Amino acid sequence: MAQVSLQHVRKVYAGGAEGLRGFSLDIADGELVVLFGPSGCGKSTTVRLIAGLESPTEGTIRIGGRDVAGVPPRDRGVAMVSQGSSLYPHMTVRRNLEFPLRVRRMPVSEVRSRVARTAEGLGIEGLLDRKPARLSGGERQRAALGRALVQQPRVFLMDEPLSDLDASLRADLRQRIRALQRRLHTTLVYVTHDQEEALALADRLVVLSRGLLQQAAPPREVYERPANRCVAGAVGSPVMNFFRGAVRGGRVQVAGSWLGVGSPTLEGRDVVVGVRPSALRESATGSLSITVSSVELLGESVDVVGDLGAVPVAARLPARDGITIGQPLRLDATHVMAFEPGEFGARLFP
Ligand SMILES: Nc1ncnc2c1ncn2[C@@H]1O[C@H](COP(=O)(O)OP(=O)(O)OP(=O)(O)O)[C@@H](O)[C@H]1O
Ligand SMILES: [Mg+2]
Repeated sequence: MAQVSLQHVRKVYAGGAEGLRGFSLDIADGELVVLFGPSGCGKSTTVRLIAGLESPTEGTIRIGGRDVAGVPPRDRGVAMVSQGSSLYPHMTVRRNLEFPLRVRRMPVSEVRSRVARTAEGLGIEGLLDRKPARLSGGERQRAALGRALVQQPRVFLMDEPLSDLDASLRADLRQRIRALQRRLHTTLVYVTHDQEEALALADRLVVLSRGLLQQAAPPREVYERPANRCVAGAVGSPVMNFFRGAVRGGRVQVAGSWLGVGSPTLEGRDVVVGVRPSALRESATGSLSITVSSVELLGESVDVVGDLGAVPVAARLPARDGITIGQPLRLDATHVMAFEPGEFGARLFP
């Protein structure tokens, strides 16, 4: 049993910086929760508090139902790997993996089989007899991951564990981590600011901003039903377009063009309309007239930025020849959202 529960947790660092401002979250046994949000939002603070490397200023943290206030990190049943995790330099990778198990006086045969299975799971069998100085940055990161995984703790804490790896290795390793976590049925709290990684891994995506929880829900729900404008802007690539305006006759005027907002309840209200770049389509009768200011080909699609009066608009369109800078383009929005005005404005529609 290793649920993790944070209740009304606040962390004020010496010097006054607020890492977390009243954060509550219940993580189920065996759940894979991804903490996601911009730099400085409190992701590392959260995992360091669970690990016991920091103490909360206020609030309660429970692991497996037990209040862990004052419990040192080694007695919490957690294993943590972070971006800067270092290995013991004088030991081989094999020794590094064996070490935490030997300290616990685990029988040698079990130590051997666990290390072998973990190394196989991570694809690092070939590195076991090397010392850290003879590994690349990415190989060191995988070995550090192995040293955490081999412990089979009640809770894994991973703070950007793949940041030193190239894109294809990252994708491969996140699948391996997911498979190992499933097999061991261990609770995993995973920190990343890579949204592809966040969406791919999470059972539940927890979006933070400025030390506050913004939304905790399955990734699809966060993407399709963002709680507020802050979440809508954080999840989705390229970033959602936002336009401020008043709803008149079911539409909002933006620099001479207009966007339909299909909800009669919003009539007369001041709102922020959100349109994902992928929800824009070229159309001869499109209601948004832009002048193209940049074009980036991605393969099957093309990212276009254009000016709608003085307002920049990003669109992800099916690739075609002949989209050039300075050219006018007419676009239609196939799907829009509406939010209350303000950085954290709640979603009003749909
Ligand atoms: N040891 C510390 N002393 C003082 N302030 C700190 C300390 N650690 C973090 N903070 C502050 O607390 C806030 C949250 O920091 P945290 O490290 O949790 O962010 P993060 O979400 O992990 O960001 P990043 O993506 O950059 O790693 C920031 O404003 C940061 O400056
Ligand atoms: Mg961090």
